[in-house]
Amino acid sequence: MEQLRQVCDSNHVESCQGIAHTRWATHGVPSAANAHPHVSQGGDIALVHNGIIENYQNIRQQLAGKGYTFKSETDTEVLVQLIDYCYRSTNDLVEAVRLALNKVVGAYAIAVVDRRQPGRMVAARKSSPLVVGVGKDNSEYLIASDASPIVEHTSQMVYLDDGEIADITVGKDIVITTLESMPVEPHIKTVDLDISKLTRGGYEHFMLKEIHDQPQCLRDSMRGRLITQDGKGRVVLSAVQQHRERLLQARDIIIVACGTSWHAGLIGKQLIEQLCRKRVQVEYASEFRYRDPVIGPDDVVIAISQSGETADTLAAVQLARQHGAFIMGIVNTVGSSIARATDTGIYIHVGPEIGVASTKAFTGQVTVLTLLALALGHENGTLDEALYQDIIAELDTIPDKMSKVLQQDDKIARMALTFTYASNFIYLGRGYNYPVALEGALKLKEISYIHAEGYPAAEMKHGPIALVDENMPIVFVATHHQLHNKIISNMKEVKARNGRILAIITEGDNEVPAIADDVIEVPPTHYALAPLLSVIPLQLLAYHVAVAKHLNVDMPRNLAKSVTVE
Ligand code: BG6
Repeated sequence: MEQLRQVCDSNHVESCQGIAHTRWATHGVPSAANAHPHVSQGGDIALVHNGIIENYQNIRQQLAGKGYTFKSETDTEVLVQLIDYCYRSTNDLVEAVRLALNKVVGAYAIAVVDRRQPGRMVAARKSSPLVVGVGKDNSEYLIASDASPIVEHTSQMVYLDDGEIADITVGKDIVITTLESMPVEPHIKTVDLDISKLTRGGYEHFMLKEIHDQPQCLRDSMRGRLITQDGKGRVVLSAVQQHRERLLQARDIIIVACGTSWHAGLIGKQLIEQLCRKRVQVEYASEFRYRDPVIGPDDVVIAISQSGETADTLAAVQLARQHGAFIMGIVNTVGSSIARATDTGIYIHVGPEIGVASTKAFTGQVTVLTLLALALGHENGTLDEALYQDIIAELDTIPDKMSKVLQQDDKIARMALTFTYASNFIYLGRGYNYPVALEGALKLKEISYIHAEGYPAAEMKHGPIALVDENMPIVFVATHHQLHNKIISNMKEVKARNGRILAIITEGDNEVPAIADDVIEVPPTHYALAPLLSVIPLQLLAYHVAVAKHLNVDMPRNLAKSVTVE
């Protein structure tokens, strides 16, 4: 931002309008030539674009035949040239954009300006998210992929739906039409986002703040949903109350998600199967959407997404819609595309998550999945009252227990310094801790660029144990549960091959410390809730290894907070 200010000052740029975009390189390497905005051949029209134009090669050839030349390799430059070409026959920016967009195939969120019409902007979306912030009395308009970057300027938002075009002129009301020129009444939504959550609050990185925010985030996720009165507890979820029959009658429950959300889904599977005795499949959304899955009106699909904008998960939801399935969203970003595309939903209420590597959203998702499994199991009659009450009472103690784990931040920071040499890691867990092992490995990969794999501990013998030697750190997620003895034997197999063991254990466990090189203790809890505690040391370990390697923790290379393109 400072660099941009200097460029404007040194070039005496006087303007009340601007477009900019942090590009996710799809077509063409990250370079100045491929960077956005792209400008039309005559220099009149400029555009920024988030998405992929799939038929851009054809259009490029056709435009070349009409005398257009291209400075970049990008699909986006082809789009601005096409709009310029359409402008010749329409002589109007909105109609040129409409004509052009009716010729392209793919995903897009675009903002277009024309230097012949200062103060006017045209925006449009299909698949990629786009929101318009409306200033007081239309005195200003701000366009972004989601509300959090503009909410400090206005809380009045217009979320564009697929196939909509917004004609925006300062001082005038926003005009929305469809690709077919049908008028659309703009729906202004007030977004209540806590700005303080958008600052680092004194922490060195957003990721560290978000890790330390988890106790409070869990209280926010459970507020009004986990009710304890006169020593008795109950779970109240409006989604379950309103759609009880549809959820309880489900033939199959299919969870679709990506990345960290997929790991939360794996824990959700175990919770729902154990407490509700319903069969659950967990699917990578990117595979599910193209696999022609067996799905129908008797099935329930649960889409888990922090951003609510992940393209693959959104497409999986749209596929489920086509097959008549009932769709529930477990989402963080209010008003996001996935939240608006589902039949019902449960917001996780952890506040905006800025760090690219997801942390508080993971524990928020697992908490909501726990509440869902408790509510459905109780309604279903498959969950006996004693266990229901036990887990509810224990869930209520988790925020304080998390705070206790977080007090070991400095200890984990020191421990991390002894791992920066490593170029590989293996994470192991069993049962509920297996997805935690996967999540720990993902965190390390995302921000420290160290290769890491997560495995069910018993799978070691069937391959990965070949990798074990004194240079291979093995992280065991070994909190107490019925398979504890089994994981002790797995540790001994590793130790027998000089592997270096770091173990996450339950306070008071005196067996593992005798085997492991390093241990991090977490307070005892019900084994089904242990992931909410055992993941925190793994988040901190990854964070401190990345910091020790002087890496950009909040914006790691090659990653985006939300992948809105395929
Ligand atoms: C990636 C993020 O782009 O998308 C991960 O870097 C995230 O942190 C994954 O887990 C899925 O995103 P979402 O928003 O659908 O949960």
